[in-house]
Amino acid sequence: MKYERRVIAPEEIRRQERICGEILDMVTADGARPLAMVDTYGCQQNEADSEKLRGYLAAMGYGFTQDEFEADVVVVNTCAVREHAEMRVLGNVGALNHSKKARPSQIVAVCGCMVQQEHMAEKIKKSYPVVDLVFGPHELWRFPELLQRVMQRHKRVFAAEKNEGAVAEGIPVRRDGKVKAWLSIMYGCNNFCTYCVVPYVRGRERSREPEAVLAEARELVRQGYKDITLLGQNVNSYGRDLGGGVDFADLLRMVNDIPGDFLIRFMTSHPKDATEKLFRTMAECEKCAHHLHLPVQSGSDRVLKAMNRSYTREKYLAQAALARQYMPDLVLTTDIIVGFPGETEEEFAETLSLCEQVCFDAMFTFIYSKRVGTPAASMPDPYTRADKQRHFDALTELSNRISGEKHREYEGKTLRVLVDGETGREPCNLSSRTNGGRLVHLQGDPALIGSFVDVKITASNTWALYGELV
Ligand code: 5AD
Ligand code: SF4
Repeated sequence: MKYERRVIAPEEIRRQERICGEILDMVTADGARPLAMVDTYGCQQNEADSEKLRGYLAAMGYGFTQDEFEADVVVVNTCAVREHAEMRVLGNVGALNHSKKARPSQIVAVCGCMVQQEHMAEKIKKSYPVVDLVFGPHELWRFPELLQRVMQRHKRVFAAEKNEGAVAEGIPVRRDGKVKAWLSIMYGCNNFCTYCVVPYVRGRERSREPEAVLAEARELVRQGYKDITLLGQNVNSYGRDLGGGVDFADLLRMVNDIPGDFLIRFMTSHPKDATEKLFRTMAECEKCAHHLHLPVQSGSDRVLKAMNRSYTREKYLAQAALARQYMPDLVLTTDIIVGFPGETEEEFAETLSLCEQVCFDAMFTFIYSKRVGTPAASMPDPYTRADKQRHFDALTELSNRISGEKHREYEGKTLRVLVDGETGREPCNLSSRTNGGRLVHLQGDPALIGSFVDVKITASNTWALYGELV
């Protein structure tokens, strides 16, 4: 598929920054400190986008709140991957009527994947008059300009045109934590899995230049971040559009070469593009976490084909085995869709048997959700919701059993973990993550947050480990 990789000119971003200054002068003219709320749904890419929205809002002089009744600007960053998330968004956007009634000057913006779908933008236009601004993921770089338009014209603004997307560098970012950071290395997806709406709303794959990724990674390390997650819908196709000969494994090695004590993670990998070179690089790079999130989606070749996943059960099994050969301590996690149109009892049984065979450390399971405009939406689907729920429950039970068994194997072992926050509970007041990303609760001084410590695992359940500092 040929298309032109569009880069937003640096002057354009500088213009947005100037607009931030103009908004700042306006909203702080009376000496007040305006507040904004950014509500995020969906994946890590959306979390990363919200950090850019907050970066812009901070440059406009806004502080932040979680309470919509205090907010002068509310931004809802939405997800379109499943219907459930969309329903939640619409419910919560509708409820903003109350805060807007109490504060009529409140500006409500809805952005992200959900509104990049034409029918959803229309629905908001017609049925949600509380919303002042709608913009899709491709317009995020010009959020200041769009917000200023709403402020100046006192009119609703809609900006979610169909478009293949661009790469914008230099947008200010305001990260929440001080320990973990998201770092987008590419945007969009070219895979068109038949159930998935992402390629339609996030445009074609486009990679950031390696220098831009490395500069941001170096800055994160300088600021003291200890856990950096490289993000993309399919990181394994990183660099293909750049033509410079740098692939994802090369990029991983370049990030690994940055001096400092930190961990590198990444997600998500598509099994059709995961290579032996990637596994070898992961094994050789001492900062790279031995964690691979490799969504299998189904264990049936018929279903995988209908999903347009471009690999077979056999190929997936071979990849999992190869990755474990390079990293015997690998933590392998996956996504699975239950109830894809026409999935039979036998085909579901193949998914169960694949999961038994691979023994995933964690499985993220979803019931198929029909997405407007995707090929799967028009496939015959004779199975009932109750069938799908029964399969989902069976898979959840298996997943819990395997995770429980895997977690028990950690008991008595001593591991290096990164302390990343407080749990708010006693006696295990701190939370931490192993190199493979497993959650460990422990007791200790909150001053340890941001440090790597050794922990002896003393207990476990299906979703967490418990340990003591050694
Ligand atoms: N229905 C259910 N799950 C979906 N996913 C993507 N699209 C759908 C859909 N239409 C799941 C896939 C993907 C994860 C992020 O969300 O498992 O890997
Ligand atoms: Fe969706 Fe498939 Fe792209 Fe993942 S790889 S975002 S599941 S189309």
